[in-house]
Amino acid sequence: MKTVSLDKKIPEGPILKIDDLTIFRSGKLVLKDINLSINKGEFVGLVGPNGSGKSTLLLSILGVLKSQKGNIKIYDSSPMSRKLHGKIGWVSQAAANLPRDVRITVRELVHLGTLNAKNLFFLSNDTRHQKVNKAIKMVGLQDYENIDVARLSGGQRQRAVIARALATEAEFILLDEPLVGMDRDARNSLLKLLDQLCHDSGKTILMVSHDLTAIRQTAHRMIFLEETISFDGPNEDFPELERLADLRGIRPVHEEDHNHSKSHIKGEE
Ligand SMILES: Nc1ncnc2c1ncn2[C@@H]1O[C@H](COP(=O)(O)OP(=O)(O)O)[C@@H](O)[C@H]1O
Ligand SMILES: [Mg+2]
Repeated sequence: MKTVSLDKKIPEGPILKIDDLTIFRSGKLVLKDINLSINKGEFVGLVGPNGSGKSTLLLSILGVLKSQKGNIKIYDSSPMSRKLHGKIGWVSQAAANLPRDVRITVRELVHLGTLNAKNLFFLSNDTRHQKVNKAIKMVGLQDYENIDVARLSGGQRQRAVIARALATEAEFILLDEPLVGMDRDARNSLLKLLDQLCHDSGKTILMVSHDLTAIRQTAHRMIFLEETISFDGPNEDFPELERLADLRGIRPVHEEDHNHSKSHIKGEE
């Protein structure tokens, strides 16, 4: 499709558009023929067995990994484009495992989210302050804002990291396995928070989780990925793949790497 540049209009199209994406890592085909389009306000759950390319897909969207074939557009810009600065939030499991010896309060951590190369010199302290307050409130950490991040529970730390993303005013938030290591209550309240961010604040969320039960409670739309996308549709239509996916997720762990810590991929509760 040839496009003529249409003066700076805010694009009404999808936030994320991926066409025919193929990714190799170290010479191995990891993602093939990925086509995906995500609209504003959607809460999309991305599931699939271990090693199926979920993290790879997120890293490609962030622009960290380059594609061999195909195209990724976020708001009509390429990943890593300067226009996207601050618009994309990234929350990884590792983000919640901040080193214990780093002493930083929740407020300071969230404040870091308001700093970027573009606004460093002209955003007033007042504006920054307000953004930080708003983000902390959105994740419900008001009572903890002056506590060291290292002293928070896993769920609270995950919230703090989400608040940092919110303070950048990120509109599109990518989360990679944010529920790992959380107990059921923390998990449920985090899912509720994410759902509210979509409904009340117009955020768009793409979340990877192997916890099918949890993600299906919340996501509006599910994607099953295994090298390529084999299901993409409303949560209610998610097929019996659930059982299949679980089995496939577990099998390589036992047969190949005996990593029991990863063996909690299951659908049963
Ligand atoms: N840095 C890397 N170099 C080469 N291959 C990698 C690298 N990281 C992951 N892979 C491979 O890419 C495939 C997909 O990995 P990943 O995207 O991490 O899967 P998932 O997040 O779904 O568990 C796996 O086969 C994995 O071995
Ligand atoms: Mg992964």
